[in-house]
Amino acid sequence: MPHHTGAQPAVKVAVLGAGGGIGQTLSLLLKTGLAPASVAQQRRVHIALYDVNRDAVAGAATDLSHIDTPVSVSWHAPEPAGADALADPLQACLAGAQLVVIPAGVPRKPGMTRDDLFNINAQIVRTLAGGIARHCDLAHVFVLLISNPVNSLVPVLVETLTQHCGADAALAAQIPRRAFGLTQLDAVRASSFLHQALDCEPSETAVVPVVGGHSGNTILPLFSQARIEPARGSGAAAESRTSTKAGAKIGAKSGATAMPALDPDVRQRLVHRVQFGGDEVVRAKNGAGSATLSMAYAGAQVACKFAEMLLGARGEVRDTLYAKVDGHVPLDAITEHVGYFSVPLTVTAAQGAAHADTHVLEQMDAYEREQLWPACLAELRESVDRGLEWAHAHR
Ligand code: NAD
Ligand code: LMR
Repeated sequence: MPHHTGAQPAVKVAVLGAGGGIGQTLSLLLKTGLAPASVAQQRRVHIALYDVNRDAVAGAATDLSHIDTPVSVSWHAPEPAGADALADPLQACLAGAQLVVIPAGVPRKPGMTRDDLFNINAQIVRTLAGGIARHCDLAHVFVLLISNPVNSLVPVLVETLTQHCGADAALAAQIPRRAFGLTQLDAVRASSFLHQALDCEPSETAVVPVVGGHSGNTILPLFSQARIEPARGSGAAAESRTSTKAGAKIGAKSGATAMPALDPDVRQRLVHRVQFGGDEVVRAKNGAGSATLSMAYAGAQVACKFAEMLLGARGEVRDTLYAKVDGHVPLDAITEHVGYFSVPLTVTAAQGAAHADTHVLEQMDAYEREQLWPACLAELRESVDRGLEWAHAHR
């Protein structure tokens, strides 16, 4: 560990499964992406990497530690077979962590669904959740789960952490406000595919709300509420959007904020591509796994915001996260029939998920409400139930 000066203490981010395809790239993006906030806030950031694959995590951490950013790195792994186990490496990784990101788990191969990963990954999530419950401060830690199937494993994570709260009802109530699944990759894909479809300018960004879950029909991209904005740092005026190639291609009338409606066939193809975008990568990798780089990019976007909040560099995180929604999402269809859903949340360090923005759900158009929404809820409910049943059977 580096020598500590008088600077304020570290914000510690643990990455569990850091030796894998997502874990290594995500750790790189944290090592580089968190440096500016760390410098600005005069606070140390430490990333603690854990993996059961000792060589992979040792190699990644040593490699990262040569990068000249002011974010320190440590690695933790079980001792090799035959060696004395001196200390619990998971404990060493998690002790004092305020943010835990979990990309640990098996990825898909062609011909598999995310559900086929459930049994093995549920066991991994349960083990890691037990470590978090034992070694982190459950009233304050944030947990971001990447492992698939997200729709079922977030219930496993939340239930397992809650079981560790015992009779402490106040602590148990914190868990759903602090443990989330990452569905950001779906929004990244929707943005990217819409940008391509409309042949947008480099100075433009396509923003598409995506809610629901993270698998097939449960992914609900709301193209009716998509907008084209100036890309960050482009300096382009917001009104430039209506005079773009994008606007011209889709027969835009002028309008300052709302994007003109997409052709129904174009939209249907975009919806399908977002819902099954993961398959494209699994097929292309041809047995070598699933999306890693785009997931690390998407995961780092969210994880960096949480770390910046913990550093004091931002007041809150506003992001679409997959969470247990009873209590903070006032929509009966979700709270009563599904229980877990990805919606835009406002998260603060003190309160966790403090507010859900259900506007996007209220503003769905007829196609989204009548066709996409029922399929999403039906499939999501099965996935959530599977996770809950498994967690209850493994108390
Ligand atoms: P990978 O096989 O490259 O890496 C997984 C890592 O987890 C490996 O290094 C492995 O050693 C480690 N691991 C396994 N069991 C562990 C345990 N008990 N403790 C700690 N580490 C453990 O896989 P990947 O491509 O990085 O994908 C990881 C997971 O993320 C998969 O389940 C995949 O389906 C999922 N994923 C989710 C999204 C999403 O949008 N949420 C996107 C892509 C992938
Ligand atoms: C994705 O959407 O790329 C991930 O969930 C990985 C997968 O299995 O498709």
